[in-house]
Amino acid sequence: MSKSFDVVVIGAGPGGYIAAIRAAQLGMQVACIDEWSTPEGKPAPGGTCTNVGCIPSKALLQSSENFDHAGHAFAEHGIQVKGLAIDVAQMLKRKDKVVKQNNDGILYLFKKNKVIFFHGRGAFAGGSAGAWQIQVSGKTADVLTAKHVIIATGSTPRALPDIPFDNKLILDNTGALAIGETPKKLGVIGAGVIGLEMGSVWRRLGAEVTVLEALPAFLGTVDEQVAKEALKVFTKQGLAIHTGVKVGKITARKNVTVEYTDSAGAAQTLTVDKLIVSIGRVPYTHGLNGNAVGLKLDERGFVAVDGDCKTNLGNVWAVGDVVRGPMLAHKAEEEGVAVAERIAGKHGHVDFNTVPWVIYTSPEIAWVGRTEQQLKEEGVKYRAGSFPFMANGRARALGDTTGFVKILADAATDRILGVHIIGPMASELIAEAVVAMEFGAASEDIAMICHAHPSLSEAMKEAALAVDNRTLNL
Ligand code: FAD
Ligand code: NAI
Repeated sequence: MSKSFDVVVIGAGPGGYIAAIRAAQLGMQVACIDEWSTPEGKPAPGGTCTNVGCIPSKALLQSSENFDHAGHAFAEHGIQVKGLAIDVAQMLKRKDKVVKQNNDGILYLFKKNKVIFFHGRGAFAGGSAGAWQIQVSGKTADVLTAKHVIIATGSTPRALPDIPFDNKLILDNTGALAIGETPKKLGVIGAGVIGLEMGSVWRRLGAEVTVLEALPAFLGTVDEQVAKEALKVFTKQGLAIHTGVKVGKITARKNVTVEYTDSAGAAQTLTVDKLIVSIGRVPYTHGLNGNAVGLKLDERGFVAVDGDCKTNLGNVWAVGDVVRGPMLAHKAEEEGVAVAERIAGKHGHVDFNTVPWVIYTSPEIAWVGRTEQQLKEEGVKYRAGSFPFMANGRARALGDTTGFVKILADAATDRILGVHIIGPMASELIAEAVVAMEFGAASEDIAMICHAHPSLSEAMKEAALAVDNRTLNL
């Protein structure tokens, strides 16, 4: 087998494996190296997203939501459930199966696209632009030569100072996705995306969940109106969310005790069976041996790149969580495709203004573009139109009428500047807004499009009509 490649990708998360496939589609000889292993030591490509992120978290969110519906929503439909119980072991088994299907799917895609996969750690071993040497340390020890290298080594969870994760009592995302039985009391530090998604899973299964957030505002980067609605709903669901706290000493013995100061400055103690620490993630470059070849990192440890994902080294690129920008799987994928295309002499492009965000709680929260508070800060004149799911026929039939769609459009041109949704299937509905914004649509464009009836997407059309004060169903 040739050990010389046009492109060697280090990391097979969403950034890396997609970059490898696109580069192969463009006719290049491509290798992809990834060190993630199953408990049996087999390759598990897909990175954080597939193994301990997007995919397993959504599997558990679905299982716990089904349980919650069976317990709380079915009766209204005349469906009686007797002896409802949750088998956590089976729920985790299903989650593991979903993960494995995705691992296997990526290995299949590599084969189909003639990407040569190496299971092990990839590290710079020398070379220069056009002929980089990459050492693979796994079951075999290969040295690959690469014209181009794409670094896609991802991120790892940030720990609190002096409180290492043990994944028994102090859990990172890996531990949070593998809790073997519903804890009676669960603590979460950080009311961000992981904290809210994982907190929701275990709350639905019966845990008493307390979330401690350092910032005074809840979901500070989300549109304020959406964040306010979310806080109201999550609190009603039983998540005890405390913002503006200062976490102090944490003691982990049989259980975990967290000493903290609340927003009023009063000393408090929280005792829980398990504590999830979800206070953000840090770029992962450990073991890459970037130092040896002079790879430049920025002050926060991200691989420094320009707008095209070029590093300071000739023909070395970096994408995904290991570089600046949102830590999202689809952002990593877009960068991976764009870099492969640039290497092939095409014009890969990633539009950061239209990267959607989704929080997969119930209700889901999704947005794209700027928030109302950002537009105010920037002094942009805008018009806002909202439509509640309460007035949407499909939402009523679903029995899920929480939330609303809000569209923000430029006051002069009507161009859509931001769309914010809290409600059922927000993760799917936001796609229409992304397409509209990518095509530079005005709110009137959405208002003039025929939307199927009855469908949740009619709330998008109605919100667009509301920008011009002419909703039809409210
Ligand atoms: P990663 O997925 O982290 O992949 C990097 C890969 O590189 C890993 O397999 C790693 O083992 C490998 N690697 C690292 N160094 C080396 C080396 N030297 N040699 C060989 N291999 C190496 N994002 C979303 O968009 N939607 C979601 O719903 C979502 N849910 C999430 C839920 C959780 C709990 C978490 C933790 C994250 C979630 N994310 C979600 C974020 C998403 O997982 C990341 O943004 C995404 O995985 C980043 O992709 P990546 O390819 O940059 O890195
Ligand atoms: P996050 O950045 O979403 O949230 C971290 C929260 O912790 C913030 O609200 C922050 O203010 C708070 N915090 C920080 N230090 C603290 C401290 N000492 N005490 C109390 N609170 C503190 O990070 P999270 O949830 O760890 O997720 C990491 C990343 O993974 C996300 O930013 C996101 O990019 C990605 N992700 C995406 C998902 C999705 O797209 N649905 C799901 C899960 C993760």
